[in-house]
Parts: sequence; C-alpha cells; structure tokens
Amino acid sequence: MSTTKGLEGVVATTSSVSSIIDGVLTYHGYDIDDLADHASFEEVIYLLWNNKLPAKEELNTFRRELAAAAKVPDAVLEQMRTYPIDKVHPMAALRTAVSNLALFDEEADEQDEEANRRKALKLQAQLPTLVTAFSRIRNGKDPVAPKEELSFAANFLYMLNGEEPDETSEKAFNKALVLHADHELNASTFTARVCVATLSDMYSGVTAAIGALKGPLHGGANERVMGMLSEIGEVDKAESYIKDALARKVKIMGFGHRVYKNGDPRAKHLKEMSRQLTEVTGESKWYDMSVKIDEIVTNEKGLLPNVDFYSASVYHSLGIEHDIFTPIFAVSRISGWIAHILEQFENNRLIRPRAEYTGPDHQEWVPLEKR
Ligand code: ACO
Repeated sequence: MSTTKGLEGVVATTSSVSSIIDGVLTYHGYDIDDLADHASFEEVIYLLWNNKLPAKEELNTFRRELAAAAKVPDAVLEQMRTYPIDKVHPMAALRTAVSNLALFDEEADEQDEEANRRKALKLQAQLPTLVTAFSRIRNGKDPVAPKEELSFAANFLYMLNGEEPDETSEKAFNKALVLHADHELNASTFTARVCVATLSDMYSGVTAAIGALKGPLHGGANERVMGMLSEIGEVDKAESYIKDALARKVKIMGFGHRVYKNGDPRAKHLKEMSRQLTEVTGESKWYDMSVKIDEIVTNEKGLLPNVDFYSASVYHSLGIEHDIFTPIFAVSRISGWIAHILEQFENNRLIRPRAEYTGPDHQEWVPLEKR
C-alpha cells in the first residue's frame, strides 16, 4: 500500500463546480478574474448551484428568495445568548448555531432534491444573520433584522454595523465574497463531501465544513494574518520580525498553498483592494507592511501570498473585528460547500479510503490486573 501524506496530488473525485488548472481558477468554466471584476455574489451562488449564469429575471427571483430566507428562528438566537459569549470564538459559535438551525427545520433530514434546494437557500441566507447576530450580541447590542431590498454584501455589513454601507465598502465586500466562494477540493469542501457521502444531511455537511475551515492552515489564517500585522505594528519593524520568524521555522500565515506554486490568482485582487481601502481609511501602513512582508517571504522562501494574506487588511479597513474574518470566509464558502454537496448527492458513493497500518503486530492480551 502506498500513501501520500496529506493526500497531496490525489484526485479524489470528479467535479464540474470549479477547477484549478495550470494555476487558473474557474467557477464552472468562468475565470475568477472576470467574476471578480463583474459578478455580484448572488450571481456566483446561482452559477455554482445551477451550472449557469442567471438571466436577469432569474437573478431577481433568486435575490428575492435569498432575502426572504434570511431570518433565523428566534429560538436559535435565544440559545446564542446562552453561549459563554465573551469566551467563545465566533467560528465555534457559528458551528454550534448552524447545527442548531437543523433542529428547527422540519425537513432537515429530507433527502429529495427539492428539500435540499430549500435547505441550501436557507443555509446560505441565514449564515450572515447568525454571524452578525453573534457579533452584536457579544457587543451588548440587539441583532439587526436583514433588509430584503439590500444586496447580499450590503445586507451583511448592514446587519453587522446597524447602518447601510457606502458604495465602496459594498463593492469591496462583494468582491471578497466572490473570490472566496469556491475552490475545488479544499479541506472544508472535502469534509462536507465526505460527511454527506454517508447520506447524512446538508446541515451536518455544512457544520462539519465549518469545523474544517476554522483551522489556521485553512480559513483561520486570515485572522492570524491580522494578528501578525498588529503585532508588528510599524512597517519598519516588518523585516526583522519576518526574518526572525523564518529563521525559527515559524509559518508565516497567508503564504504558501498546496495547489498553487506560482501564486494564488485571487491574491492580486485582494492586494489592490487593500491598497485602495487603506488609502480611504488613511491607514496605508497595513498595506505597506503587507507588501513589505510579501517581498521578504517571496525572496527568502519563494512562497507567495494566498487568498488569506491581503484579505486581512481588506476586512480590517472595512472596520470588521478580526475574529469575524474567518466567519466571513464561511459566509462566502458555504455557496461552494452547498454546490459540492448537491453534486455529491447527484452521484453518490461512500467516501472511505484506506490507511497503511504502522502500529505493532500480534499483541498479546494482558488482563487488567497485570498491566
Ligand atoms: N511560512 C513559512 N514556511 C512555509 C509556509 C509558510 N506560510 N508554508 C509552507 N512553508 C514551508 C514548510 O515549512 C515546508 O518547509 P520544509 O519542507 O522545510 O519543512 C514547505 O514549505 C512545504 O510546506 P507544507 O506545510 O508541507 O505545505 P502544504 O502543502 O502541506 O501546506 C499550507 C500548505 C497549509 C497552505 C501551508 O503553506 C501553510 O501552512 N501556510 C500558512 C497557513 C495559511 O496561510 N493557510 C491558508 C491557506 S489558503 C486557504 O486555505 C484559504
């Protein structure tokens, strides 16, 4: 039996949701650069779930359906108030809250396609409501109900801050959502597929995926990037900080990638957004510091920034609390998780690989009193 550590290079399934071929990322054949420049996040969700871009009326209907599904059961919010709110990480709260949503959905365990489509809509629409409600509750504020007339991006910022965002913030946030929506067989998407391949339900698949996204080697990296930037504090301290960390073999968050070896195509969009937004906020030091770190890590280690690196200064510039960065990743990536879950259900087979055994052989049983 041969093994590949971390399943590197293993092709574990077929999929028509998104692809990374020769360093180019596409969602169902559409280049991420085109989508980042032109698409609304709602169009991208529609694309991922239906394998085609929506026509105008289809998009309007989809937007209305999403907006109408955004309210979460009161009981879920009531229970959220009982979490040890000042101690739990928002990703842990989100994992619990999504699992909790299932308890209040009568069709949580229904497996027919129509029920799955309804659950998809609810989950996608309700994740922003949960993330923003948690943030507000822990800050001693009441959750803000979603507004049906706002775009998905604007609604998130509105529910988070209690005021509608300006156009620049809405556009930037929309682009960030588009860029994070799907990414082939990343760790959280694979988790979701493994989970539902047992014919478990969509809520379980999404809950499992949130758990996988939370880790710092995956979605959790964006929050840690901002932690590092804050710790460095000033641009002229970046060089010694990073060189020292590299000498100690510390991993620099936001760099490296299992699949991209010549650069993550999403990073340049986030870099440009970071430049623009930090100029608007008058805090260009976060951008300058990021560029400096980028230069050093590239020169010293040949590693390039991934999606998480510049997204940190983007979200910071939008005034978002640092531990909400990874939940935002989830708010976007759930669109991809759901697309993959639907695809898995369409042509399901249990996912059950093997392990090469490395433990001892022929052990002799020793009674408890003799151990
Ligand atoms: N900083 C310093 N060194 C690194 C980094 C980094 N960010 N990433 C990889 N390396 C080094 C490793 O130490 C290793 O060196 P070695 O061969 O001397 O031991 C070598 O590069 C290969 O790294 P692996 O960890 O084996 O690469 P792998 O493909 O398993 O991991 C990963 C990819 C997890 C993204 C890794 O690059 C990493 O930990 N990056 C930092 C965390 C991060 O940014 N995660 C977000 C990824 S994107 C996403 O999920 C949204």
